[in-house]
Amino acid sequence: MKIVVIGGSGLIGSKLVNKLREHGHEAIAASPQSGVNTLTGEGLAEVLKGASVVVDVSNSPSWEENAVMEFFTTSTRNLLRYEAAAGVGHHVALSVVGTDRLSESGYFRAKIAQEKLIKEASIPYSIVRATQFFEFVKGIADISTDGNMVRVAPVLFQPMAADDVAGGVGRIAIGPPVNGIVEIGGPEQFRMDELVRRRLAALKDSREVIPDPKALYSGAKISERTLVPGTNARLGETRFEAWLSAMPR
Ligand SMILES: NC(=O)c1ccc[n+]([C@@H]2O[C@H](COP(=O)([O-])OP(=O)(O)OC[C@H]3O[C@@H](n4cnc5c(N)ncnc54)[C@H](OP(=O)(O)O)[C@@H]3O)[C@@H](O)[C@H]2O)c1
Repeated sequence: MKIVVIGGSGLIGSKLVNKLREHGHEAIAASPQSGVNTLTGEGLAEVLKGASVVVDVSNSPSWEENAVMEFFTTSTRNLLRYEAAAGVGHHVALSVVGTDRLSESGYFRAKIAQEKLIKEASIPYSIVRATQFFEFVKGIADISTDGNMVRVAPVLFQPMAADDVAGGVGRIAIGPPVNGIVEIGGPEQFRMDELVRRRLAALKDSREVIPDPKALYSGAKISERTLVPGTNARLGETRFEAWLSAMPR
């Protein structure tokens, strides 16, 4: 199958392209680097010729509220329009577990808008909502830092390795469209503050992690189960400790 991976040069996209190729598919990595820009439409008609599936694992370069909304709505509208013209039979998009519970956040309002456009379009689709990537745990510290302190809510947290995200998205991309949402997550639950503390310690980062039940996540209030998937989630295999010990210090 010809499968076009939008955002194919990114963290998840590059892993996904490799996995699809290992399984014998013609996977094309598409992004501005390779002359495909979903914001302007540049290169889309050419790259989608003969494609059966499009997987959108792109992300907005800016997470500023208006910029991120403009990114996900314009790029999704363009993609869906060009896909319809090219006869693509399955649109797969990567979203985030709990997106619908995080509408106080500008980033997540944009993900909600992206999901809505996909659901309302005519192309069969699968929305894959993943939990936070292990690779993003330091990013959570960075967006929660105040001086030398990192304030993180001590809520349940079930992150997963980017490699397992790519595997989960790949399996769905080569299967039939679910015309709905599939959740994927990590194999273990933690408290978010605990994991951020462990990641910073492994990085010898001296910031102090403070459990603060009122701390916001990407601008949104969160509670005990906001970030964890439901019982039907498909779980990755990689445990946090194994991932951490394989990371360069
Ligand atoms: N972080 C998390 O914990 C988490 C959890 C669940 C789901 N997600 C979702 O996962 C997705 C991918 O995240 P990631 O961390 O893998 O992203 P990433 O590494 O930042 O990669 C972003 C990709 O988007 C591409 N891109 C940017 N602007 C584009 C444009 N105008 N047209 C086409 N492609 C464009 C980039 O291409 P260039 O390299 O050419 O610029 C790059 O390939 C996001 O949708 C995010 O919401 C994230």
